[in-house]
Amino acid sequence: MNILLLGSGGREHALAWKISQSPRLSHLYIAPGNAGTALAGTNVSIAADDFDHIGEFAVRNRIDMVVVGPEDPLVKGIVDYFAGHTDLQNIPVIGPSGKAAMLEGSKEFAKGFMMRHHIPTARFKSVTFPRITEGVRFLETLKAPYVLKADGLAAGKGVLIINDLFEAREELHQILSGKFGEAGKTVVIEEFLSGIELSVFVITDGKSYKILPEAKDYKRIGKGDTGPNTGGMGAVSPVPFAGQDFMKKVENRIIIPTIKGLQIEDIVYKGFIFFGLINCHGEPYVIEYNARLGDPETEVIMPRLRNDLVDLLDGVASGNLVEKTVLIDDRHVTAVILASGGYPGTYEKGKIITGLEKVADSLVFHAGTKNDNSQVTTNGGRVIAVSSFGSTMNEALEMSYKNAALIDFDKKYFRPDIGFDLV
Ligand code: AMP
Ligand code: GLY
Repeated sequence: MNILLLGSGGREHALAWKISQSPRLSHLYIAPGNAGTALAGTNVSIAADDFDHIGEFAVRNRIDMVVVGPEDPLVKGIVDYFAGHTDLQNIPVIGPSGKAAMLEGSKEFAKGFMMRHHIPTARFKSVTFPRITEGVRFLETLKAPYVLKADGLAAGKGVLIINDLFEAREELHQILSGKFGEAGKTVVIEEFLSGIELSVFVITDGKSYKILPEAKDYKRIGKGDTGPNTGGMGAVSPVPFAGQDFMKKVENRIIIPTIKGLQIEDIVYKGFIFFGLINCHGEPYVIEYNARLGDPETEVIMPRLRNDLVDLLDGVASGNLVEKTVLIDDRHVTAVILASGGYPGTYEKGKIITGLEKVADSLVFHAGTKNDNSQVTTNGGRVIAVSSFGSTMNEALEMSYKNAALIDFDKKYFRPDIGFDLV
């Protein structure tokens, strides 16, 4: 099979690494990819949301399957685009339709969906500018801290957690007045849920589903979960508190009603579903849905997946996922992200990365890197994920940190305490 993978981050390198091991693969292309994906296939310089050029490329190169990494092309409707062109409609695209990707693309839609299907989530109210007073009244019924979410995609910046009621009212006004542009024309106000978060992933062909390894990511930039949110500074899998009992609750109360809800609402979903969950006193609640895999979670999930990923993806495309069995490695995998100093604020790019060849016994997944005159240079905030196996989480972390120290670039930064809250 010829496969085209869309995206350019650590998630995509981990997917490319896994896909490239498949005996069923003829050729893997990655658009646009990074210096790491170039080791697993051929990078193609087409943006992941440039549908016309992706379509042309797919026809010209006899692509048999398109795998979508990031949410942007999904929310913009790449699945519908392929379905709507006669020369493309026979090429399966792994990912939800534009309508289904609304589970990620619109917080209001996701909340409404959860209400309709009785899926546990925080109490909420969704408001637009003309209804701001209703929003303020709802805020007044809640206890601090207050959670405000821009309805649409806001590059990971659209969620505010505010301690003071007066400040929350001000922010509500500002978001509805355009602080986050179109994404904030509707705001979801939520009750704050207190607990520990985890990410649960399933793959579905729209009829059946398979649960992939769960993971926990570390979103804050600073030690001890402090400072601003990032895309994710590290991840671990498995998650110790996600034992059988907890995961049964997740499956019965959240996964099954979600898959059934999509069917009831006639929403076509063939791809990955990412459940951002919170464990409140042993009970799982949905914080958010994503229409894709997580990053850096994918960098710990793919190493634990023992299946041929292409075979699973083919099950999604062919609608016979029910016949597949997911096999998971019992070992722990941890990922430590090496980031550019300054991230998630401003940072410099183009720093030469050294020491990659010194790494032993870890997987190096590139995130923001590129090939520059035969050198690998930094090209983003999150630069590299160092993923390692261990018989315990600590053993895996030791290996990730040992190798993280061997890779270097100017102003390299990483969190020294991934997994700190789980020991
Ligand atoms: P989201 O983009 O919806 O994942 O929100 C970003 C982060 O805000 C989440 O990962 C949580 O840490 C936090 N968050 C969102 N909603 C809530 C909530 N209702 N209660 C507590 N924390 C929340
Ligand atoms: N690591 C969280 C995400 O991918 O959104």
